[in-house]
Amino acid sequence: MTATPKISPARAEAFLADFTTLGTFGATGRGGVDRQAGSDADIAQRRWFAGLLEQHGLRVEYDRIGNQFGLLELVPGAPYVFVGSHLDSQPTAGKFDGAYGVLAAAHAAFELAERWGSGSASEDEKPRYNIVVVNWFNEEGSRFVPSMMGSSVFTGVLGLDEALATTDPWGISVGDVLGKAGFLGGGDGPTPVSCAEIHIEQGRILENAGNTIGLVTATWAASKYVVTVEGAQAHSGATVMEDRQDALYGAALLVVFARQLADRFPGVLHTAIGKLDVYPNSPVVVASQVTLLLDLRCSDEGVLAEANRYLEEQFAAIEQTAGVRVSRRLSHEWGINPYQPAGVDLARSVVGELGYSNQEIFTVAGHDSVNMKEKVPTVMLFVPSVEGISHNEAEDTKDDDLVAGLDMLTGVVARLAHGALVD
Ligand code: GLV
Ligand code: MN
Ligand code: MN
Repeated sequence: MTATPKISPARAEAFLADFTTLGTFGATGRGGVDRQAGSDADIAQRRWFAGLLEQHGLRVEYDRIGNQFGLLELVPGAPYVFVGSHLDSQPTAGKFDGAYGVLAAAHAAFELAERWGSGSASEDEKPRYNIVVVNWFNEEGSRFVPSMMGSSVFTGVLGLDEALATTDPWGISVGDVLGKAGFLGGGDGPTPVSCAEIHIEQGRILENAGNTIGLVTATWAASKYVVTVEGAQAHSGATVMEDRQDALYGAALLVVFARQLADRFPGVLHTAIGKLDVYPNSPVVVASQVTLLLDLRCSDEGVLAEANRYLEEQFAAIEQTAGVRVSRRLSHEWGINPYQPAGVDLARSVVGELGYSNQEIFTVAGHDSVNMKEKVPTVMLFVPSVEGISHNEAEDTKDDDLVAGLDMLTGVVARLAHGALVD
């Protein structure tokens, strides 16, 4: 194989134009998007994306959890190099998270289809594997918990029936929304041989270092819990303070403790409570129940275990102080499993040929490739996020960095389609 060629200026231009169009789906008017999984905006962008894939000659299919695949069959019968990310977003989110990786995957496939279909490819430049562009269903887990749902079902970490039965806060199930939108296929999707994902960093490390490409070596561990605080409903004025079993007071103590816990392990542990559901959430009423989602991220599994012990102790203390009962259910977790070092080496070789400044980097956020790397050799790449802002409408990545990432992804996918990491 010859050295990695750069994508053409026309490819870069087409990619940026399509990315502008993609950003109109669920646009908030303040530069961001709201296209939670299965929402009207998500359904509309998926239809548009299917059309784009088909225009470029890819065959669009869905599996039984609504993962969207654009198949580029180059070698009949061979398994597929998976390349993609997710189009769904958090509410009032940025337009780059996930969407960049899906559209870059599509344009990497279009570019390679052109290169290899032009008739000029020599025998040793011809691919050995097929390529599939994938838009994983519900990576964000905002409307339907847990996150990374589509890739978790695909890789067998989450049961299909459990995922399809998951409901949103209004009782609508994943199966309902996908079925109505026509996104439920009958099979399990194509067979993977290897995988690549590109994503915005969502942190400041690349920007601070002045580097363009991140070669992801491993992921921080995560433990996500659904915590229930149960008290007793009471009159907020008339009930004497000693008699109260205020679930919201108990939850508030936990919110503060979660922050203090992270402060005990600076730079190693991140914690947040991102969602609180208060019942009955009414004036003049002391809350009887609060459900909250507690998220722990950690770069050291020992520290994570210690943090979990502190939490257990704190639950008992909160029960005493607030007169409530606190329980938790683990909804989603992953460990600090590295990406295959050979995949990092492959990415380093491609980035060296293309000449972009780069560094190794951990991912703190979860990605669908965290699931895929447990099944097949997987390469994960980052491009910089301006000021590290993410899950915010102000999320941004410069055009030059978006294009450099597309160039890089195209080079990596070309190598994977030639059998790198597997043959
Ligand atoms: C992504 O879904 C994450 O939880 O980081
Ligand atoms: Mn993402
Ligand atoms: Mn996200």
